[in-house]
Amino acid sequence: MKIVILNGSPTKGGNTDIQVKAFCDGAESAGHITEPLRVADMNIAPCIGCGYCKKNGFCVKKDDMSDIYKKVTSADAVVFASPVYWWGITAQLKAALDRLYALTGDGISDKKTALLMNGYDENPFEPSKAQFEIIFDHLHWQNKGFVFVGNITKKGAMSDSPLIKEVYEFGVNF
Ligand SMILES: Cc1cc2nc3c(=O)[nH]c(=O)nc-3n(C[C@H](O)[C@H](O)[C@H](O)COP(=O)(O)O)c2cc1C
Repeated sequence: MKIVILNGSPTKGGNTDIQVKAFCDGAESAGHITEPLRVADMNIAPCIGCGYCKKNGFCVKKDDMSDIYKKVTSADAVVFASPVYWWGITAQLKAALDRLYALTGDGISDKKTALLMNGYDENPFEPSKAQFEIIFDHLHWQNKGFVFVGNITKKGAMSDSPLIKEVYEFGVNF
């Protein structure tokens, strides 16, 4: 299976990068092909809600989303990853998510998906879980699960979390 991961963390080598790598290592060990993309390092303008995509079938904006549209369309699975920012995903991942609106209704209804998140508090994930359950349902994407790692209190703490093994195993069993 080809799995594209949209990672919304701006922190290079941070906890979300570590979480994504554990997932990818697990998935690759099971024979999947993974492509992690750090959307925070890309030039992705926010959606302006102009409706151009619904009339023309593609987004009016020409930036790094053009590449992501191709990768998402050809992937079997699209996994979202983000640190918790104010009980939600980062603005960078939200920008990419909003721009995926241009693909809805265009034959991308057969994807597998999941959400990986981490945060400082024990369980700051419920609002994002509720949001993505509705989004995945709306897209008719097969939700393979949520992998939330709380109590991540400093940069790099993900490596020492007892849950990092579960992230890897989630990749293995994806
Ligand atoms: C702007 C901002 C908002 C945050 N909001 C939350 C929050 O609401 N709940 C929480 O548990 N952690 C919050 N955090 C902590 C991050 O989720 C946590 O440090 C995470 O591990 C960072 O991941 P990274 O290393 O990939 O950047 C916030 C951090 C920042 C910078």
